[in-house]
Amino acid sequence: MKHTNDSEFRITMKTLIGEGSPFWQDDLDFIKLYNKIQPYSLVSPYRCYFIYQYAKNANSLDGHYAELGVYAGGTAKLIASVKEKNKDLFLFDTFKGLPKHNPEVDDYPEGKFSETNLEQVEKLFEMDKTIKILPGFFPETADSLKKTRFAFVYLDADLYKSTYDALSFFYSKMVPGGVIMFDDYDWVYCKGVKEAIDQFILENNIKEIPIVTTKYQCIIIKS
Ligand SMILES: C[S@@+](CC[C@H](N)C(=O)[O-])C[C@H]1O[C@@H](n2cnc3c(N)ncnc32)[C@H](O)[C@@H]1O
Repeated sequence: MKHTNDSEFRITMKTLIGEGSPFWQDDLDFIKLYNKIQPYSLVSPYRCYFIYQYAKNANSLDGHYAELGVYAGGTAKLIASVKEKNKDLFLFDTFKGLPKHNPEVDDYPEGKFSETNLEQVEKLFEMDKTIKILPGFFPETADSLKKTRFAFVYLDADLYKSTYDALSFFYSKMVPGGVIMFDDYDWVYCKGVKEAIDQFILENNIKEIPIVTTKYQCIIIKS
């Protein structure tokens, strides 16, 4: 048997999995939707395709939807477009940019992503009463949801504390099979995100592991 070295193995794998041709290339519904939300999002199509699939799948579970880190509303609109009308989508953001960061773990400074506004995001969801926008500092803005159960939660908050607080709030409220999806996992400019996940898992003796879906994104599936 021929033994390959590490770099030969990587090249072989690239060929086998057809890297280079996006895996959504025949999914016209996604392509149309992505083109619609793209002007309002910072998130790559690779990551959006996983948001799209997991959010769609969560319709089979009891429980609502939430996103922390809305910014101009792109990924929120993506989730809103696939969830069914018997479920609510709760959207959390300051709409004034990132809150205070911790320079030891967070690269992005307070106020980054402030070039958005609530009215503009509200317009994207006009007439849809199942979209509940909760502007202000999370987790304070989630006070009224202590008894709500969730099937799909998308966390794109960039900072250690926001990610840790979100896990503390949502983890116990996820229904079995519910998915928490994280953006910026293992991304060099948002090291706080992975640190917050690792810390929360360690402190709470969580058995589920973060599963990497694509670059800089992972999920935790609640058992
Ligand atoms: C990278 S942006 C989100 C990008 C968005 N998902 C998209 O589709 O482009 C991160 C957002 O998280 C928000 N954020 C982070 N921590 C927060 C907190 N504790 N409370 C409210 N908003 C927060 C910021 O205001 C910012 O708009």
